[in-house]
Amino acid sequence: MIFYFSGSGNSYYAANTIAEKLDTQLISMASCLKSSKMDFDARQDKYCGFVFPVHFWGVPYLVTEFIKNIHLKVSKETYVFAVYTCGGGAGNTAQMIKKLLKKVNIHLSSVFSIKQIDIFVPVFRIPQKNKREEVLLKSNIELENIITHIQNLDKGDFDDNKGPLPFIATTLFYPIYSYYRNTSKFRVSDLCTACKKCENICPLKVIEIKDSKPIWKQKKCTLCFSCLHICPAQSINYGKVLFFFDSKNKGRYRHPYAPKSY
Ligand SMILES: Cc1cc2nc3c(=O)[nH]c(=O)nc-3n(C[C@H](O)[C@H](O)[C@H](O)COP(=O)(O)O)c2cc1C
Ligand code: SF4
Ligand code: SF4
Repeated sequence: MIFYFSGSGNSYYAANTIAEKLDTQLISMASCLKSSKMDFDARQDKYCGFVFPVHFWGVPYLVTEFIKNIHLKVSKETYVFAVYTCGGGAGNTAQMIKKLLKKVNIHLSSVFSIKQIDIFVPVFRIPQKNKREEVLLKSNIELENIITHIQNLDKGDFDDNKGPLPFIATTLFYPIYSYYRNTSKFRVSDLCTACKKCENICPLKVIEIKDSKPIWKQKKCTLCFSCLHICPAQSINYGKVLFFFDSKNKGRYRHPYAPKSY
């Protein structure tokens, strides 16, 4: 079985492709958390995988909550792996996911990363079509290599996208993730048509349409940016209104094979 979490579809696409190639079940971490269905038996499974994006040089909040609460049975033979997609700076995510799983008695056999389009639009601009296609092409090659490693049951750390000073990067920047998960940083323009796409896609059900506009019901969310990237009117923005650190006019993106909901 393969557990996945995804914002714009990058990790979903990787998880779905791996699941199809390994002929194994695909399970949404967000759906399991919502329904409190946290008991899994993978003792008969050859593979058990965790696929998710990198957030702030580490593991997304939703994934940490999922793993903390999981009741997962694996056998000694089950090959457990993690695959994360990132913009090129995964930092120490490999050690972080390894430690999280160890706490629930799951031994990770291998970790892999895939460099993808960086959807952190408060800082990065979504690239033009030709650049996006280039990134997607390269990411598909990384994905094929990962599948070969998994099929060969190769063990080890195969993350080639850690970026500079991975341990220091994660130690310095992962703690500020909690601050940026504050939903007061979202704003909605008058372009909103109340289509409810943001409400429907939010994995934590934080958004509700009230008086024909979304409101964020909780102080913090997991900051996956599904809402921001799916909005057809591009009416959701995040960050400061002026100058640096604002998603305005930075483009929007969803993986070409992203599903309508997770
Ligand atoms: C809140 C947030 C934080 C991010 N932090 C990082 C990071 O620290 N390093 C990195 O390489 N990419 C980072 N990214 C980029 C994503 O990891 C990357 O775009 C990923 O492929 C998104 O996958 P998804 O569509 O499955 O969510 C971040 C994205 C978001 C939304
Ligand atoms: S997705 Fe965009 S247009 Fe639709 S309700 Fe949400 S903010 Fe409004
Ligand atoms: S509010 Fe938006 S960014 Fe936050 S968890 Fe929901 S969809 Fe993701």
